[in-house]
Amino acid sequence: MFRLDGKCAVVTGAASGIGAATAERLAAAGARVSTLDLTPTEALSAKTGGIGVVVDVSDERAMSDAISRAAAAMGGLDIMVNNAGIGDGEALLEGQGTALYERMFRVNTLGVVIGTRHAAAIMARQGRGGAIVNTASLAGTFGFPTYGAYTASKGAVVSFTRVAATELGPLGIRVNCICPSTVDTPMMDDPSAAAEGAMMAMATPLGRICKPGEVAALIHFLVADDCAFVSGQAVLIDGAVTAGFAPALVETLVAAAVQQAI
Ligand SMILES: NC(=O)c1ccc[n+]([C@@H]2O[C@H](COP(=O)([O-])OP(=O)(O)OC[C@H]3O[C@@H](n4cnc5c(N)ncnc54)[C@H](O)[C@@H]3O)[C@@H](O)[C@H]2O)c1
Repeated sequence: MFRLDGKCAVVTGAASGIGAATAERLAAAGARVSTLDLTPTEALSAKTGGIGVVVDVSDERAMSDAISRAAAAMGGLDIMVNNAGIGDGEALLEGQGTALYERMFRVNTLGVVIGTRHAAAIMARQGRGGAIVNTASLAGTFGFPTYGAYTASKGAVVSFTRVAATELGPLGIRVNCICPSTVDTPMMDDPSAAAEGAMMAMATPLGRICKPGEVAALIHFLVADDCAFVSGQAVLIDGAVTAGFAPALVETLVAAAVQQAI
């Protein structure tokens, strides 16, 4: 079950975090996996049976070439994971204007659109269907203060995924996106992100943030043929943080409210 023998996959943002864990997981399930990133990934792709390509996902010509090369080297393309992304934030009234929005949308949104278009074109030519997973974020479904640019760029991934699923469904190509809450990856390394990670652990009913391997497991599930009737979905992986308040958070807020009332 959930074997990927004979499948050929491309994973973007594969040098680190969720992408690296996904490339390793899909390869362990039997797929050949090519790894695309701004950072070289040859050591990883040597283990995962594909090629490593240094590419910027927002550069359409370079991405078209990279996906075509990967498909040619592996003998086709069945799975595309558009995972590369960047994160940053600034307050709406104190920030630099639209520059951050342009940067976030170029990588997080256009990178996904470009990867989907060029992967789907190859899958359509092959005529054997395919599965595409885009990495959105819990932030794409939820308003986080100061993260307007990131949140909007990920919300657009959710919307785009739905449209792509409708257009590509008749070709047998499934398109889903995933919406992780905070994941313990190098993206969370800077001190302010680490503090937010600690806050999210307290707010999450499961009492911690997510691990990259847990996100990779969800992506594996979504790309497997066992999941053949799931398409057009934005799947949350969030430790129940959107289901309700964690008891630890309630206790902290009640204690703060009591202090204020005294
Ligand atoms: N870490 C989190 O808390 C979290 C939560 C929700 C969603 N995500 C999303 O998960 C995805 C993976 O993030 P991660 O946490 O593994 O971060 P990460 O920083 O560990 O990995 C991101 C990878 O993307 C690559 N990359 C960045 N810009 C690129 C570009 N223009 N072209 C090609 N490669 C590029 C980086 O080199 C890096 O290897 C991102 O889309 C991120 O927005 C992360």
